[in-house]
Amino acid sequence: MSKTTPTYRIAPSLLSADFARLGEELKTVIAAGADWIHFDVMDNHYVPNLTFGPMICQELKPHSKKADGTAVPIDVHLMVQPVDNLAAAFIDAGADLISFHPEASGHVHRSVQAIKGKGCKAGLVFNPATPLDVLDWMIDDIDLILIMSVNPGFGGQSFIKSALRKIEQARKRIDASGKDIRLEVDGGIKAGNIRRAADAGADTFVAGSAIFGKPDYQAEIDAMRAALKG
Ligand code: DX5
Ligand code: ZN
Repeated sequence: MSKTTPTYRIAPSLLSADFARLGEELKTVIAAGADWIHFDVMDNHYVPNLTFGPMICQELKPHSKKADGTAVPIDVHLMVQPVDNLAAAFIDAGADLISFHPEASGHVHRSVQAIKGKGCKAGLVFNPATPLDVLDWMIDDIDLILIMSVNPGFGGQSFIKSALRKIEQARKRIDASGKDIRLEVDGGIKAGNIRRAADAGADTFVAGSAIFGKPDYQAEIDAMRAALKG
């Protein structure tokens, strides 16, 4: 994938949306060009914050589509411990991809198999201080690698630069595997640094505050795409 131009995906995180107008925010950000919708699930246990559960995902799912009816995938990032029950509930609620933190599962391989067994794509998420070692054993089973460039729990934090080295390492592993695996980066992404993450090998970009914190979501997404082209 790194040898040809990758198909970049921008995945706005609803974490920074106006929760009082969530459906409207979803529609607006899709109209502005969102490729995926990133859905940050926090449990006040694995991370020190609490967001939304499968019921909200289920309510939003029918609205996660473009004007022409094309579905916009819901990319669920589970920051919860344990993993398995909520993963299953989110698949039933319409999630297209489920990613979880290996530290949060007692049996990582089993959790991935359970997600895939229900017909959903599975991803593993790596915190800033978590090595990629688990990929030695898991890369053949997953569809997505998510590199955290902030500590999970809050939007609006600054990008941690060492994530770039980790993205490079993950890209090498993906290329060596020969598999079609998305490489997503999450935290502190904006138009000003998205190109650096792409150069390191990322092809999918989560952005919360950089999009929802601005009055014109489309202008921000367009600026990100322009930076990716330039
Ligand atoms: C952090 C979340 C991120 C967060 C990104 O725990 O996983 O998805 O919403 O937010 P920004 O883009 O504001 O750093
Ligand atoms: Zn996230």
